[in-house]
Amino acid sequence: MNKMANNPGRLVCLCNHVTAQEIVNVLKAGAFTVYDVQQFTSAGTGCSRCVREIEAIVQHYHSTAKKDPQLRINFESES
Ligand code: FES
Repeated sequence: MNKMANNPGRLVCLCNHVTAQEIVNVLKAGAFTVYDVQQFTSAGTGCSRCVREIEAIVQHYHSTAKKDPQLRINFESES
């Protein structure tokens, strides 16, 4: 069952108040790994209880989502 599809606004990371949709958004923008998601959203950087769910979302995204290059953004700081 895909919990994310049922409620994209559901909080995945309670410590840092990060929703499933926010995780999907950074994946759409070019994040690729759980580590990337952690860097861009802070999800999973507190108690780590949500890391397995973040991993599931990342795996689900990569196995099903179609990439849209137009959604990519540059996370690197401008200099
Ligand atoms: S619930 Fe995500 S780090 Fe604690």
